[in-house]
Amino acid sequence: MKALILVGGFGTRLRPLTLSVPKPLVEFANKPMILHQIEALKEVGVTEVVLAINYQPEVMLNFLKEFENKLGIKITCSQETEPLGTAGPLALARDKLVDGSGEPFFVLNSDVISEYPFAELIQFHNAHGGEATILVTQVNEPSKYGVVVMDEETGKVERFVEKPKAFVGNKINAGIYLLNPSVLGRIQLKPTSIEKQVFPQIAADQKLFAMVLPGFWMDIGQPKDYITGLRLYLDALRKKSPGKLAAGAHVVGNVLVHETAVVGEGCLIGPDVSVGPGCVVEAGVRLSRCTVMRGTRIKKHACVSGSIIGTHSTVGQWARIENMTILGEDVHVGDEIYSNGGVVLPHKEIKSSILKPEIVM
Ligand code: GDD
Ligand code: MG
Repeated sequence: MKALILVGGFGTRLRPLTLSVPKPLVEFANKPMILHQIEALKEVGVTEVVLAINYQPEVMLNFLKEFENKLGIKITCSQETEPLGTAGPLALARDKLVDGSGEPFFVLNSDVISEYPFAELIQFHNAHGGEATILVTQVNEPSKYGVVVMDEETGKVERFVEKPKAFVGNKINAGIYLLNPSVLGRIQLKPTSIEKQVFPQIAADQKLFAMVLPGFWMDIGQPKDYITGLRLYLDALRKKSPGKLAAGAHVVGNVLVHETAVVGEGCLIGPDVSVGPGCVVEAGVRLSRCTVMRGTRIKKHACVSGSIIGTHSTVGQWARIENMTILGEDVHVGDEIYSNGGVVLPHKEIKSSILKPEIVM
């Protein structure tokens, strides 16, 4: 089977992290977001993943070449010369997706995290006999998403409304699809929205079905949702493979510490923390609800909560970093500095406190 991952868009809502790498390569739970997806696809027998990309394909490909061999899966790029939206890229990659076998193919938004129930999705798709299946999930704030109105029993989709202004329902498109090759017959090679143009049409033909996604789901394309997503991911990991989580007197709740990271004496870490490869967390540090990305050093007695610390950065001694502070790559925060919601662009040195949420350029 094949899969296409929609990798376009500039990831503006996840800046400054996306100023250094394309959004799909931003690390989540110590691994580039897109690797979570590729590994799960591989598990259900996908042999080729097509990345639909509209900028910086070299960065992505160079990076993923390494994993092609490691994972034994073919990864190719389909590059747009202009952004083709969420459906146009499928028309562009037509020849890569269709091989005459008639098999359906997966399509994924690159910023959604879940337990990827692909095996169940295949089963459901084969059983209903329609043209397309989308995974849906229930949320409290449906207006940010594509809302799906469906027959609860059969899963047949009655309506698909992208980012509705008025309330239509609270089941939303999770950004994970399984499509028959015939869907490509509905898409032309031009900028097209799968949500606004293609799904409503398939639904009108009674051939669009939805399956409620078991387990957790999050679009992690925004800092606040990224932090929430980490909590949900770690909760799920606790149930599935608790051995992967850190244990010990210095750990509270669910914490993921990369095997190459070093944690000093007298720290208190958790809940809901990930510490990435090669990080050094010095003595007496307090970390909660945060991500510390690869190659970063948190110096003695610093305290980080509800924040994201980008790669190859430093947080000084006795510093206090909180309230959705986001440090880009290679940011160095001095000793005793306080950051209340600072959003700091890559390669900066922070020598004075950031007292209220603001962007530091
Ligand atoms: N190749 C390519 N070209 N990819 C694109 C383009 C483009 O022109 N525009 C967007 N994408 C990719 C994004 O990188 C992302 O992976 C995916 O398409 C969806 O775009 P977002 O910008 O993240 O959309 P959204 O989050 O506002 O809404 C979408 O996702 C929701 C779930 O998270 C929609 O699919 C909603 O219906 C859905 O509920
Ligand atoms: Mg999104």
